[in-house]
Amino acid sequence: MATASAPGKIILFGEHAVVYGRPALAVPVLQVHADARADLVTDKRMRENWADAILVEAPDIGLFSPLSALLADQTPHPLAAVIQKTLQHLGVAIPPAFTVTIRSTIPVASGLGSGAAVSVALIHALAGLFERALSDEQVSQITYEIEKLHHGTPSGIDNTVIAYAKPVYFVRGQPIHTFSVARPFTLVIADTGQAAPTKESVGDVRKLWEADKSRWEAVFDKVGEIVVAAKKAIESGEIASLGPLMDANHALLQEMTVSSPELDRLVLAAKAAGADGAKLSGGGRGGNMIALVQPESAESLASALKAAGARNTIITTIK
Ligand code: MEV
Repeated sequence: MATASAPGKIILFGEHAVVYGRPALAVPVLQVHADARADLVTDKRMRENWADAILVEAPDIGLFSPLSALLADQTPHPLAAVIQKTLQHLGVAIPPAFTVTIRSTIPVASGLGSGAAVSVALIHALAGLFERALSDEQVSQITYEIEKLHHGTPSGIDNTVIAYAKPVYFVRGQPIHTFSVARPFTLVIADTGQAAPTKESVGDVRKLWEADKSRWEAVFDKVGEIVVAAKKAIESGEIASLGPLMDANHALLQEMTVSSPELDRLVLAAKAAGADGAKLSGGGRGGNMIALVQPESAESLASALKAAGARNTIITTIK
């Protein structure tokens, strides 16, 4: 038997522009997580139809199915794709019978990286079952391959921050850079309760960019400058300058058309309740927003966001 867990994530600054090579900052969120367990059923290996002997269970979504059925669809189920790719990476051509069970407290399609976290937890659990260790980089790579199947043109930030479970300053195609937090700061994460259609919002930004590259490259440059300034502020403990940078990043995301009335309502409610800055986080059009707050005011800000319609809130300290 082997078990593994992976955290959720939030993007602090730089979503969408990161797809176009600008930097972004993301951190793991440990209050929510995906958990995977793999149990060997028997050591016996069936040469034929081995995928019938692998059971995939995700009780939260009512899924109890042999792997073979999940692989049969034209686009394989994400969990089946993870199992198949991981077995390939581990060099396990004909696996013995096993069962995997996946649970997650990360809300789906909310910008908190639930898909990537499920992949990371499952990959580690399978590696554990076959007594193999995979590096964070290998786990991140396998997860990226799965993200590509389901999200079109992901930058790779979600799989990186979740596989490494560290704060990352991410630039597409470059080796991971982490960053240090000189003074802890507190965020309230609030969920609109609406699904964030990341593939669609990323696709729509691409259409805008294709129609007027010089305009959108300039917008992405502005986002990139905000990200660099935010990294400097976090690394030198100048937390006061983060709020205005969040507000400016949100305005640029609105210009990219990836905010929504619900996200804007929560951002305005956060500011009215005394947040130092607020922005959507992740793909947008739904999902979560984040607000910077003094630690002693976090609970009252969370209540104000709930009163303004947030489905759920998480208070987290970035350190
Ligand atoms: C999604 O968490 C972040 C986006 O920038 C997409 C990506 O980077 O792949 C919107």
